[in-house]
Amino acid sequence: MDAADAMKHAIHIPTLIGRKRDGEEIAASDLRALVEGFTAGDVADAQMAAFAMAVCLRGMTSAETAILTHAMIDSGDRFTWPSGHPPVVDKHSTGGIGDKVSLVLAPLVACTGCWIPMVSGRGLGITGGTLDKLEAIPGFRVHLDIKQAAAQVSRLGVVMMGQTDRFCPADKKFYALRDVTGTVPSVPLITASIMSKKLAESLDRLVLDVKYGSGTFMRGKKEAQELADSMSAVGKEMGVEVHVLLHPMNEPTGRAVGNALEVIEAVDTLDGRGPDDLVGLVVSLAAPITGRTQDELRAILASGAPKRKFEEIVEAQGGDPADLDKLASIYRAPVIREMPAPDTGTVAKVDAGMIGQAALQLGAGRSRASDAVDFRVGFDRIVKTGETVHQGQPLCRIHARTPIDFDFAEAMLGRAFRIER
Ligand code: URA
Repeated sequence: MDAADAMKHAIHIPTLIGRKRDGEEIAASDLRALVEGFTAGDVADAQMAAFAMAVCLRGMTSAETAILTHAMIDSGDRFTWPSGHPPVVDKHSTGGIGDKVSLVLAPLVACTGCWIPMVSGRGLGITGGTLDKLEAIPGFRVHLDIKQAAAQVSRLGVVMMGQTDRFCPADKKFYALRDVTGTVPSVPLITASIMSKKLAESLDRLVLDVKYGSGTFMRGKKEAQELADSMSAVGKEMGVEVHVLLHPMNEPTGRAVGNALEVIEAVDTLDGRGPDDLVGLVVSLAAPITGRTQDELRAILASGAPKRKFEEIVEAQGGDPADLDKLASIYRAPVIREMPAPDTGTVAKVDAGMIGQAALQLGAGRSRASDAVDFRVGFDRIVKTGETVHQGQPLCRIHARTPIDFDFAEAMLGRAFRIER
């Protein structure tokens, strides 16, 4: 029996859970043994779920959160970079509606000479996920092992991939369990889950885009700030330069929501035709990790180099760059119709949360991690707050599988838009 085994056998899991239930701080060695035991299958799902619920109710100290993050990283492999490598950077967003920032930011950042090994997740609930959007590009492979991914980063400066079985496996298993036991909303658990995956990329710099508002799981700015502080503390403790930006998510980012529709908008942005809010978000997040000014980044975007870089990523990961300009015909939903404005006036509200719910109902998202998504459906040409509309003019276009789905989405969206005279 090695030292780790000895430690694992020394802890009594029900006692450890009971200690957290009663609000005690858990010793570092016990916490590590719990994560090791869970990863190896020695700690039962029911025990880990009970522990998660105890953490939800009692919280964790910042020291416990850091230990949990380390233990998750140590449960698998991490990226290693050759000596003298360029700055390795990444961005994490806590998610939102219509957030296709990563698809533009990753190639843009690679064009500044930084390396960006972007490990992303799938959509869950009302928020979309970068992996689903990437998979809307026919043939695009998101399952790369760390060796293949690191080789691509050395060659292209960028990879866009999903979490593998060897990349923070403890988090993969734990997150799936939290998802079905009502234990996702906990600042220390979210911190350890997100930061383990980012820190296993062995980063020099990280920018965190923490959202708050109706289209996010952190409704209030205060909770978003608490999560930002917690993630920032863990990153700094591991020697990573962490930048945090808090952004409201009250209306969708850009004008499109839905997987293929968002890739189309991202490609338009790489072609220099992006919506102002999306471009603004991309450059504000890329600036602190690349050391470039927002104006410099806008100029790089306008040069067309990030579009070519994105095509290289698509080609390297199994897709055909020529498909990027054909997505609208590849993924044509059976019913595409405009939703007319009921009145003339100024758009006072476009509720991101409601639009996310409607997209989920159309089939663009998943309620369970195992659900399939329909790349074709969603909304585009969505009006932005502050714009003027005339009665009968479109507030958006709805892409649906059936006329009934269209009617249902239109009824839901009736509550998402507010027009003021
Ligand atoms: N995303 C993650 O990867 N983990 C969480 O806990 C929440 C969101």
